[in-house]
Amino acid sequence: AAATGYEAENATISGGVVESNHAGYSGTGFVNYDNVTGSYVQWSVPSAAAGNVSVAIRYANGTTVDRPMDITVNGTLVRGALSFPSTGTWDTWQAVTFTVGLTAGTNLIRATATTANGGPNVDKLSAGVPGDTTAPTA
Ligand code: GCU
Repeated sequence: AAATGYEAENATISGGVVESNHAGYSGTGFVNYDNVTGSYVQWSVPSAAAGNVSVAIRYANGTTVDRPMDITVNGTLVRGALSFPSTGTWDTWQAVTFTVGLTAGTNLIRATATTANGGPNVDKLSAGVPGDTTAPTA
């Protein structure tokens, strides 16, 4: 089954603003994380069943420096300081993909900046379904 996309601008944002001044985003914009540790975007991701799903976070990082983020699912750290390396320009969007376990029902997936640079600009999160090991291309 196809992955479903969840726009960052529709998610819960703490320490970030929705902007649209860099081309190539989906939806109506992207989240520009504040340049502080602890800023985050949290998506509500429904899953029809418990199981592992492939997740992609589409982002841009126009600096030369990594913007790592902790990934939590329902409050549990599942990826510590996951790397969001340079994409070259703020108009160049790439996906970081990983696999997480979801519960049946609503899951809260949060990406929190771990350095004072804050997170990258984040466009959306895409999530597959349990049993589908094809990574979303975001
Ligand atoms: C620039 C860029 C922003 C980005 C910011 C940052 O200001 O225009 O989109 O979020 O750098 O370094 O985080």
